[in-house]
Amino acid sequence: MTTETRILGTGTGIPGKVLSNRDLERMVATSDAWIVERTGIKERRILEPGRVTSDLAAEAGRNACRAAGVEPAEIDCIIIATVTPDVPMPATAVYVQQKLGAKPGCAAFDISAACAGFIYGLGIGDGFVRTGMFRRVLVVGVEVLSKIVDWTDRNTCVLFGDAAGAVVLGPAVRGERPRGLLSTHMFADGGQAEQLYQPLGGFVKMQGRAVFAHAVRNIASSCEVALEANHLRPGDVDLVVAHQANLRIIEGVAQRLGLPMSKFYLNIEKYGNTSSASIPVALDEALRDGAVKEGMTLLFCALGAGFSWGSAMVRW
Ligand code: ACO
Repeated sequence: MTTETRILGTGTGIPGKVLSNRDLERMVATSDAWIVERTGIKERRILEPGRVTSDLAAEAGRNACRAAGVEPAEIDCIIIATVTPDVPMPATAVYVQQKLGAKPGCAAFDISAACAGFIYGLGIGDGFVRTGMFRRVLVVGVEVLSKIVDWTDRNTCVLFGDAAGAVVLGPAVRGERPRGLLSTHMFADGGQAEQLYQPLGGFVKMQGRAVFAHAVRNIASSCEVALEANHLRPGDVDLVVAHQANLRIIEGVAQRLGLPMSKFYLNIEKYGNTSSASIPVALDEALRDGAVKEGMTLLFCALGAGFSWGSAMVRW
């Protein structure tokens, strides 16, 4: 027998250090006007020296547990989506287990799907809860991209930021209408791997225009898959929480889906592209802003390196 999965609580870990476009003007040949016009980003956060990915992830996890009313010791499985782990081995998730105060023995592992990492984590966590394998699953999207960005390369350094966002998943109470995660959808195409990658020991390299075109096309198509799977039309969606990579990518997706921008939650101007952290951070802020209300239909969608992409339909 399967059960539905709900998001029981959300939380974030946001570094205190702000790096504005003006600050970047002093570092590379760029301008606030260029960055705002091409991306919608005004500032991003940078992790303080002495802190690492697992610190930020544990902070988000702690906040999500508190919001969910779940003790860290009740978590059965920790999934960390990141391309910027503390160390290549072991998984950042095992450090998060310790820092969070989760019980020893609770499953803990990392997944690598770049900016689509949170969607992948949600899909995996959903599977665990649905089948009854785990009852409480913590999914964290966390990135310290500031350590893999070349701060002399204006093509990439203006885009990225550091952050963590987390959700606690658990079984839904069966109600009259479906609640929680309605469906998750994951895709990848390794034929495009060279468009956006980090060579061993090097910095992020990106073909910006190609990534842009793939992002709009594939994010929109994964949204269509999610709509079709749930017999919904675009107009049935109350709020889209899309990966905050670039405002123009989100505008392109909105156009393809025939949805107004007012249906998209936006916080890119404050954080830039935080990869796997971007959707859970936006979701947490949307909840706190009152933009998400009970019964709403939410659509999550993202594309990242790989390319990896996907979507999730959620009834709040
Ligand atoms: N400041 C000023 N000028 C710049 C900067 C900068 N930071 N970066 C590039 N330029 C220049 C280029 O050198 C180029 O100059 P040239 O014409 O003299 O050669 C000019 O601006 C135009 O460059 P393009 O790359 O063609 O600019 P474009 O409009 O495509 O915008 C951008 C670049 C913002 C990177 C865009 O392609 C983009 O957003 N792509 C998607 C990338 C992305 O979001 N990646 C994140 C990871 S994947 C994901 O999360 C979806």
